[in-house]
Amino acid sequence: MAIERTLSIVKPDAVEKGATGDILGRFEKAGLEIIALKKTHLSEGLAKGFYAVHKERPFFRELVSFMTSGPVVISVLEGEGAIAKNRQLMGPTNSEEAPAGTIRGDHGTDIERNAAHGSDAPETAKVEISYFFNASEIVEPSEAL
Ligand code: RTP
Ligand code: MG
Repeated sequence: MAIERTLSIVKPDAVEKGATGDILGRFEKAGLEIIALKKTHLSEGLAKGFYAVHKERPFFRELVSFMTSGPVVISVLEGEGAIAKNRQLMGPTNSEEAPAGTIRGDHGTDIERNAAHGSDAPETAKVEISYFFNASEIVEPSEAL
């Protein structure tokens, strides 16, 4: 499998309950390297733009309100099959259906308050990473040597 990059967001519910370290630790234990990281409180505009694909959905307003309700921790993860690996670690969207041992199963509450976001495909990962990070904020392999 190819080395990929994916965007992760520890959502406001998980940041508030102090689960950031646990979630980032799971990525590292799974062999995903954190190559960029920031904690920020999303503005309404940034949250709306990030989830623009869902703007016609009935849950859009609530989703934006949730994502702006407190700080989030955003990272870029790199590794073998990073996109699928991250989504596997997160578990299904609905936390109530997510098994114990997954991020959403252990830290989420329901279908909306589900602790984490992960990109769903290489094209979306690319767009999402550049939505939040400049090239200068991402550690490239040559810099890490
Ligand atoms: P994400 O984009 O956050 O990684 O989540 P996902 O791919 O598993 O799910 P997606 O369908 O992209 O939905 C984006 C986020 O919207 C909220 N949601 N609420 N009330 C609802 O029915 C509902 N459905 C989705 C969740 O926070 C979901 O992660
Ligand atoms: Mg999604």
